[in-house]
Amino acid sequence: MSDRGFTIWFTGLSGAGKSTLAQALEPVLRQRGHNVEILDGDVIRTNLSKGLGFSKEDRDTNILRIGFVAHLLSRNGVAVITAAISPYREIRDQNRELIGDFIEVYARCSIEALTRRDVKGLYEKAIRGEIQNFTGISDPYEEPLNPEVTVDTETETVEESLGKILSCLEEKGYLEPVAVSA
Ligand code: ADX
Repeated sequence: MSDRGFTIWFTGLSGAGKSTLAQALEPVLRQRGHNVEILDGDVIRTNLSKGLGFSKEDRDTNILRIGFVAHLLSRNGVAVITAAISPYREIRDQNRELIGDFIEVYARCSIEALTRRDVKGLYEKAIRGEIQNFTGISDPYEEPLNPEVTVDTETETVEESLGKILSCLEEKGYLEPVAVSA
């Protein structure tokens, strides 16, 4: 059992694939000896952040709460995966400082592709003005300047994106490389 904790911090627009990648990553990390917790924005907003909306203040509160829990867990050896839009650079960087063992993964996807897919039907509503302050449409998203990993979910398969993340974790010593037998 590996006891070095860390936080994989996904950031990106709604529908960009953060939750999908988090869920694909979980069994791999478990198999490689880690205890894992996923802190997913949609789930956190039904309990820990219940009642919060999408103003800058509420989003910052939400993201700082997720960061606080990620900090508690990762300092106790857990591999934490967070999956929230986390649109503001300054707040992500505050969490980076708090947590230390922080791997920021930018799930990048164009607004055009997200609007085309529109899995939850939210982009159409946001464009029609039926949802206010929708990230990427009528609310800001600040791209990371120096993420440890960028995955392009518009063009990559889940396996390709996972591969990039796992390589980064191996390079940084959070994961033992898998021994390849001849
Ligand atoms: S964050 O900005 O505080 O990080 P979080 O990831 O928790 O956001 O929640 C985003 C999810 O809430 C989206 O995937 C979407 O399903 C839903 N949502 C509802 N209203 C909005 C909005 N105005 N902007 C973005 N997401 C919204």
